Amino acid sequence: MPLAFAEPTDAAIPVHVIDEDAVATTLDELSPEARAWASTQGFTGSLGQVLCLPDAAGGLAKVLVGYGAPAMRARGRFHMGAVARKLPAGVYEIASGLHGDDLDEAALAWLLAGYRYDRYIKPATGVAGLIAPENVDAARIAIIANGEAMTRELINTPASDMGPDELEEAARTLAATHDARVNVISGDDLITSNFPMIHTVGRASNRAPRLIDMRWGDAGPQLTLVGKGVCFDTGGLNIKPGASMGLMKKDMGGAATVLGLAHMIMALELPLRLRVLIPAVENAIDGNAFRPQDILTSRKGLTVEINNTDAEGRLVLADALTLSDEDDPALVISMATLTGAARVAVGPDIAPFYTDDDTHADALAKAARKVADPVWRMPFHEPYQTMIEPGIADLDNAPKGGFAGSITAALFLRRFVESPYMHFDIYGWQPGPAPSRPRGGVGMGARAVLEALPALLNL
Ligand code: BES
Ligand code: MN
Ligand code: ZN
Repeated sequence: MPLAFAEPTDAAIPVHVIDEDAVATTLDELSPEARAWASTQGFTGSLGQVLCLPDAAGGLAKVLVGYGAPAMRARGRFHMGAVARKLPAGVYEIASGLHGDDLDEAALAWLLAGYRYDRYIKPATGVAGLIAPENVDAARIAIIANGEAMTRELINTPASDMGPDELEEAARTLAATHDARVNVISGDDLITSNFPMIHTVGRASNRAPRLIDMRWGDAGPQLTLVGKGVCFDTGGLNIKPGASMGLMKKDMGGAATVLGLAHMIMALELPLRLRVLIPAVENAIDGNAFRPQDILTSRKGLTVEINNTDAEGRLVLADALTLSDEDDPALVISMATLTGAARVAVGPDIAPFYTDDDTHADALAKAARKVADPVWRMPFHEPYQTMIEPGIADLDNAPKGGFAGSITAALFLRRFVESPYMHFDIYGWQPGPAPSRPRGGVGMGARAVLEALPALLNL
């Protein structure tokens, strides 16, 4: 079921969102009984507090929602998503207290609060309904919510049901919805078509590696999105310890995020040409697995010494990035659950990104703040180039020393792209429940990119 706003009705229950500072004034305007009830319930307007006020017949007359103080609000996002889940079933409308970007965020939060991963269980009852507020672009918000839900669904689905095959299927289904074209190169065809590193990383799995190539639109600047589609990452022969392998169904989080973003772009019919490239593989273990110290020759001709088979993402992305560069895109953006180092640096809430273009970086940061999708710029630090140069090949896939793991991975990727380039090293997973974000797969950076696209591409 797509996430959607409720149909407008006169019977909608008004929700008044109240800043902590304004609680006294608001309560003054209530009837004496309602005021007493607010006091009985201890309603102070603290963030996320919900006070349901009955009508004479025992129905729900209206709801007061505490919106706290700015400093408290700044500690999180999507506060109205938590509120929505506290409300009794029914149809609501936001009657006062939210404006501008806050109202957009609240409307999105409410829709996203309706997302649950229930593929393998009996679906729980949904969240209360919200009538689309006036003064928001309701269609756009619903499209964004459903793009995000698609990302989450893809990540949450375990590798047993989300291998390279199913990821291809998901891309084909999305393409069919939007009249996009899909071309897929799989198995040994990857060798003849010269995607050697995608084949090498994926060949030990009995589920064939592949490169998914989707195109949409016929006018405007070309945006090429490249997403890491490692459907499960065992680490390969450099096998991950159990604790590190535990979440690796999410290693296609970059692919899931670019597909969600692609949905947003296509559903909004943005005036651009879109290409989505997803190297989809399983990093598995078998007699024919690639090994430490193997030297691979990439599509671009650069040779890569394998010093850790667990640094597989950059290998499959490298060949896809080389292809992305071949048809002169205006901008290439890669998204990947690429390094544990990124998570150590910024934690699970922030999407670290790389670009050489200061204007792009500023536009993205500004957009990210506007839509509550936090990002942070990281440097393509040139002096670290030597760390990825092993001496006996052009590149080393896993530099020793443990320094700057996310930066060296980003520098590695950049060796394969000449076009304007932006890269996100995302986590793709919400480790514990937060408003509108249950534990599990989550998109990062996609909404910020969407908001920044007019500036990034001069649309
Ligand atoms: N998929 C992992 C990175 C990862 C791990 C992302 C945990 C998010 C959470 C990636 O393939 C990987 O294993 N990277 C290695 C690279 C290292 C061997 C150079 C890493 O980050 O440890
Ligand atoms: Mn790995
Ligand atoms: Zn990986």
